Parts: sequence; structure tokens; C-alpha cells
Amino acid sequence: SAAEKGGYDYFMLKEIAEQPKAVADTLLGRIDAAGSLTLDEVRIPTSVLREVDKVVVVACGTAFHAGLIAKYAIEHWTRVPCEVELASEFRYRDPILDPRTLVIAISQSGETMDTLMALRHAREQGSKVLAICNTNGSTIPRESDAVLYTHAGPEVAVASTKAFLTQLVACYLVALYLGQVRGTKWGDEIVAVVRDLSKISGEVEKVLETMEPVRALARSLADKNTVLFLGRHVGYPVALEGALKLKELAYMHAEGFAAGELKHGPIALIEDDLPVVVVVPSPRGRSVLHDKIVSNIQEIRARGARTIVIAEEGDEAVVPYADHLIRIPATPTLLQPLVATVPLQVFACELATARGNEVDQPRNLAKSVTVE
Ligand code: AGP
Repeated sequence: SAAEKGGYDYFMLKEIAEQPKAVADTLLGRIDAAGSLTLDEVRIPTSVLREVDKVVVVACGTAFHAGLIAKYAIEHWTRVPCEVELASEFRYRDPILDPRTLVIAISQSGETMDTLMALRHAREQGSKVLAICNTNGSTIPRESDAVLYTHAGPEVAVASTKAFLTQLVACYLVALYLGQVRGTKWGDEIVAVVRDLSKISGEVEKVLETMEPVRALARSLADKNTVLFLGRHVGYPVALEGALKLKELAYMHAEGFAAGELKHGPIALIEDDLPVVVVVPSPRGRSVLHDKIVSNIQEIRARGARTIVIAEEGDEAVVPYADHLIRIPATPTLLQPLVATVPLQVFACELATARGNEVDQPRNLAKSVTVE
């Protein structure tokens, strides 16, 4: 009913709008004033966490994209090797698992059969499993050694939005917690990240306030057949997520690529007026990547692409090459997906609407996939 949708036309719109609160709720009570983490729910003894020599993330779909981003954070902050695998592929390749492997199973619903089978396989090999889940008391957390709940509130729309952002927050918390437990040197960068995490809800809010041009752009592209998405570093999984949203909702051909791979093949796809969304890393910090992606934007534009550039406020280098510019607030590099994903959600939702598609219930899809 309209009341359930809180005045919005679709649950998806309501859930996109709820993201600032969802993100804040996932952080609530988990970082103290001194910036240290208290994750009491993680009932895996710290002695075990100190011995962990590998992290393996298993998940499907959007949750898998959260896992891909988690890898950058876990390896960078803790120096523990991290693999990320589609849950549906995991157990069939006889993965190397032992009691020193920490498996993180990410699932909004907690009922995804592929993810459940992957975690069962991991536990059979003696690995500890930590679930990141949005649904209290669901199967995946019940069968895991511990659970960190994302407090996004119920997500009704089939396309995952607020659950994704809170999965990212939970992954960052787990990565920081692992670092804390293992005595990782708490450099200035990590201190800044912890501080900036508590400001991120406000940054997501700011992005939401500037979405009208994104909606107008989406409507203008309603008769396109293909949209490509490019990113680097954590922007690469964001590109994959942007493409998945468009497939699910707009039923368009959409693909995400690592921008560095363009020259290894995908650049052949570029033709006149093809919309290409580019997620640009911050010009601060790892600026080498920024400069490389600016070159990519120039290259594809020279070949006719219509460039839709998502870039940090104050990034002037992209301006000459952006046919459409979507601004996002400056954040530490690893946190950028929390703000960069939001315009892509809005873009896909508006395109779906413009194409007359059912936003909350896309064809052929179910909210939780309980078959393998
Ligand atoms: C997201 O928009 C999708 N509907 C889908 O990829 C989903 O993320 C995937 O099926 C995993 O679901 P889960 O998080 O409930 O395990």
C-alpha cells in the first residue's frame, strides 16, 4: 500500500532514501568516542582472530560486490590476504580452507541457498564463519559462528540498495576490528577512516539531495540498448554494481569493467553516443589512478562515447571530458563506494520507470533465492 511505501511510489525509492539512517544505524554503538571498535556480536574468540591467515568472502549478486570492496579494505588495513568468491562457485572447486581461514558470508536475506551451501562447506573444513546479514534469525546467521547484523531495516524491493550500503559499513567495521584485534599499527589513515565513517551518513544525505539531474539524464537515455560502467580500485566493484542494477531494473545490456582493462578488449565496444558511466577515484591520495582514469575518459570520448562522470567535488581535471558530471562528496578512498553507488541506484530506478518496468518486482527475479 501507499502507506507502507511511506509516500514513495516504490519501495526501492523509499529504501534509497532511507540509506543515511541505515548507514548510521549499522554504525550505532559499534565505534566509541576514542575511535575503537566494540563488536560484541563477533563471538569468535580474539585468540582465533589473531591466528587467522586468510579471509574468504562468499556472497552472491550485490552482496558479492560488497565483498569485492571488502577485499580492498581488509588487505589494506590488516595485511591479511583476502579472497572473494561467488558463493555458487565456491564449494565446487574444492577450495583450500582450514581452521585459520575466516570465512565471511554476506547476505541481506540470510536465506540465499548458494551462500548457505558455501558456508556449510567452509564449516565442514573447520573454518570459522562470520555472517554479515540484514535479517534477524535467518538461516545463514543461525548456521554461522557469529553474525554482524546490518541494521538497514526490512528491504522489500528486489533490487538491493540500503542493504548494500550497510553491508559495506559492516565490512569496514569487520576489517577495522580485525586490525584492532591483531594489533595492526593504527596509522593516521585508519584514524581518519574511523572518523569519516561517522560522517558518512551526512554525506549520503548530501548525494540524495542532488539527484534530480541524474533522474533527468536517466530519462533521456530510456531508448538506449547498452550502458557501460568503468571504475578502478574500489570503483571497479561500484561499476559492477551499477551495471547489475541496470540489468535487473531496466532490462538493459549493461556491463562493468575495470578501467585498466579497456585497452585489453572492451574499448572495441565504444561507438558513437554510447553512454559510459565512469566512477573516478579521488584526485587526492592514490592520484596515479585518478590520472589514468582521466586518460581513459579522454580515450573513450575521442571514440564517440557519451561520458557520464561521477567525480569528487573539486576534481576539475575531469570537467573538460565529462558530457554529464555527477558530483559526490570527498571521502577517504576506501569509503568512496558509499557515496558513489547512490547515483547509480537512482539512475537505474529512474531508467526502469521511464521504460515502464516494474521497479520493485523486476521480471524473472525473486527477493531471496532459496534454490541452488
Ligand atoms: C540485488 O539487487 C539482487 N537482487 C541480488 O543480486 C542479491 O543481492 C543476491 O541474490 C544476494 O541476496 P542476499 O544478499 O539476500 O544473499
